[in-house]
Amino acid sequence: MHSSVTTQGNQRIMEDVPLSAIVQQFGSPCYAYSKKAISENFLDYQRALGSRDHLICYAVKSNSNIAVLQTLAKLGAGFDIVSVGELERVLMAGGDPTKVVYSGVAKTADEMRRALEVGIHCFNVESESELRLLNKTAAETHQLAPVSIRVNPDVDAKTHPYISTGLKENKFGIDINRAFEVYQQAAQMDNISVVGVDCHIGSQLTDITPFIDAMQHLLLLVDRLADSGIKLKHIDIGGGLGVRYQNETIPSLAIYMDALEPLLKGRIETLVMEPGRSITANAGILLTQVQVIKKNGDKNFAIVDAAMNDMLRPALYDAWMDINSAEIIADRTEDSYDVVGPVCETGDFLAKDRMLAITEGDYLYLSSAGAYGFTMSSNYNSRPRVAEVMVDGHQIHLVRARETIEDLVRGEQLIKEQ
Ligand code: LLP
Repeated sequence: MHSSVTTQGNQRIMEDVPLSAIVQQFGSPCYAYSKKAISENFLDYQRALGSRDHLICYAVKSNSNIAVLQTLAKLGAGFDIVSVGELERVLMAGGDPTKVVYSGVAKTADEMRRALEVGIHCFNVESESELRLLNKTAAETHQLAPVSIRVNPDVDAKTHPYISTGLKENKFGIDINRAFEVYQQAAQMDNISVVGVDCHIGSQLTDITPFIDAMQHLLLLVDRLADSGIKLKHIDIGGGLGVRYQNETIPSLAIYMDALEPLLKGRIETLVMEPGRSITANAGILLTQVQVIKKNGDKNFAIVDAAMNDMLRPALYDAWMDINSAEIIADRTEDSYDVVGPVCETGDFLAKDRMLAITEGDYLYLSSAGAYGFTMSSNYNSRPRVAEVMVDGHQIHLVRARETIEDLVRGEQLIKEQ
């Protein structure tokens, strides 16, 4: 995967822009994404899939900024969505609805209606109730809803329990042992057209064995269905390939595809993938400024202006994220710091026990923050959400303005006194 920051002299650079120039122009904290890194990460998927019939549906939840979606749409990407909000973003960004797959465990009838109206590629159906609701909703508008059933293959993705989705005890998908029967029901429904099969076993996988296990399970089902007269057009293996945050060894896409190849040899079904993190994580950073340095007992704290509401991953998953100075300044001495935010929670930290040569006023950047960063941010502690910029060569485009206090209370009202 393509990392977005390099070092030139004492400057850290994203594409051709020093990180210090980004904060000078747009303030701190600020998310910055490299257009080139996002594009190259997507093109890596296209190259790895080569001549095999495929559709790469970028998982919008990982970074849903419309400029990111626009960049990917221009390269021909499809999209994996989980809400109508995500669908509308894809449409605003110029994405092709016929390349959209719609995942999610409890789509509402309204959401289904909108997706049918714009003509998406398929609904990844996750329960029998959803299948019945979709059939009914499609009947009301005299449409045929394209369906791929998301099966739960009971495969251990060996990742953090919060981002593991393919085990029986997880809420996702239909038990693979029931899937055959559900397909038989779907095939009988007047307003359902069965087009594929889907699974997504988890996120931040550092081993490809679980993907291969899952594919084997899917293929057994696909063949059994074909024997019974139900021929699927596509097989969707989901997303989940990990990225390097610290020292993880991530299998390359080429290794992943080589491992799938013997299983898929001679098959005509389109291969669908739903990568999110592996396209956007390493393409983005979170810039932040040191506000206060203080010592409590033996601990040094660097209190920065970004917090858990801006980047939740460390607080929620105890995730390790790399943090460094945005400029290398000669006369600093190194010390060990916990880098924490100003939010009133002990869990509000970005990094713990890191050796940094910093002082108050310095800028830092959190690496690999392009996925599940801004999209998981909130207004907790009434903190306006930060700005997002997209770097393209020498240019810096503001792609989301920093929120104002007005934005913070938009929609709220005082009650009228009697
Ligand atoms: N497809 C489906 C149905 C998904 O649920 C997900 C992610 C993806 C694709 C994309 O997976 P990826 O390629 O990004 O691993 N907030 C967590 C990650 C949650 C992932 C949720 N589903 C984190 O920050 O680690």
